[in-house]
Amino acid sequence: MTEDFDKTRAKAFSQTMTGIINGGALALMMSVGHRTGMFDTMAGRPPSSAEQLAEAAGMHPRYVREWLSAMASGGVVDHDEANDTFVLPAEHAGLLTRAAGPLNLTTYCQYVAMLGQVEDDIVEVFEKGGGVPYDRYEGFTALMAESSGQRYEKTMIDQIVPLLGGAERFEAGIDVADVGCGSGLALCLLGEAYPQSRFFGYDFSAQSIAAARERADAKGLTNVSFDVRDAAELLETERFDLITTFDAIHDQARPREVLAGIHQALRPGGTYLCVEPKASSCLHENQDLAMAPFIYTISTMHCMTVSMAYGGPGLGTAWGEQMAIEWLGDAGFTEIESTGVRDDRANSYYLSRRAGE
Ligand SMILES: C[S@@+](CC[C@H](N)C(=O)[O-])C[C@H]1O[C@@H](n2cnc3c(N)ncnc32)[C@H](O)[C@@H]1O
Repeated sequence: MTEDFDKTRAKAFSQTMTGIINGGALALMMSVGHRTGMFDTMAGRPPSSAEQLAEAAGMHPRYVREWLSAMASGGVVDHDEANDTFVLPAEHAGLLTRAAGPLNLTTYCQYVAMLGQVEDDIVEVFEKGGGVPYDRYEGFTALMAESSGQRYEKTMIDQIVPLLGGAERFEAGIDVADVGCGSGLALCLLGEAYPQSRFFGYDFSAQSIAAARERADAKGLTNVSFDVRDAAELLETERFDLITTFDAIHDQARPREVLAGIHQALRPGGTYLCVEPKASSCLHENQDLAMAPFIYTISTMHCMTVSMAYGGPGLGTAWGEQMAIEWLGDAGFTEIESTGVRDDRANSYYLSRRAGE
């Protein structure tokens, strides 16, 4: 041991490590709690035994008791030792249940579980380079739809539409495209609210497009359509008044081609809304970002690697504001502005235009 070895620092880090291991384990258990509906079952319920909670949730009592033990020792639920009952405090329920909408953080716990599936693949690409393709992530489409969906439900009409010129613009009847649309919730919300406008969604995942079509059909939307298409080959010219991308540029294999294609596909004067994870392009400026470790982890184990799997640059989830603005400018966009919406603090909303009119 060298003389300048700081024992206090080592001891503090040992506690940090314990917290990390417990946090990782709890994230998995909270993902299970979300998927089994345990948090929803417990919300608002008086102190109850493990057996009562298992019965209410329709789950096996032995598993529920062990899960509750993890939750109680992790400080997620309260345990009354005398009566052997458990309760989910209201202050916690507001971040853990489906009723919490965009505040429900258990949705994100599911990403920890999903990324665990590809750990072997990631170790392999650390050694050999390349990337892990989309088809290795079982359940990605559904998870993405759930986590971004809980946000759009809250923000799309009341908070995002005002950024885009307000309801009047959509009521006048415009052509809108969403590139990298996933399973289509964003466009379906818009299509339902504004039957006067026409909405087109593109994604290269056939599975996502099938889910998007099903969603539009279920709502009987005739002004919304979806197509399987590579975003780098949109091949449209001056066709749309508005194009959006939600969380769909940083993980592209050919992001510059995508941005150039979007620019070309807009009518002169048209608007591009590019929504990307809120971050700085400089690591040191992200140290205070509450979920920076999560962002860099999901980047390494998903967003960056899927880009590299198809020969892309692997921009990463935290490619950040400086780079995004520079690349939008390079693609020809003008009047670039970085803004945001109240109920989506995790993303930056870059508004820009194709010059003209
Ligand atoms: C992070 S997800 C976001 C999905 C959706 N916009 C949302 O917010 O839920 C990125 C999406 O981009 C799609 N994507 C990635 N590369 C693409 C490409 N080259 N062409 C079209 N879609 C692509 C993926 O299939 C995925 O649905």
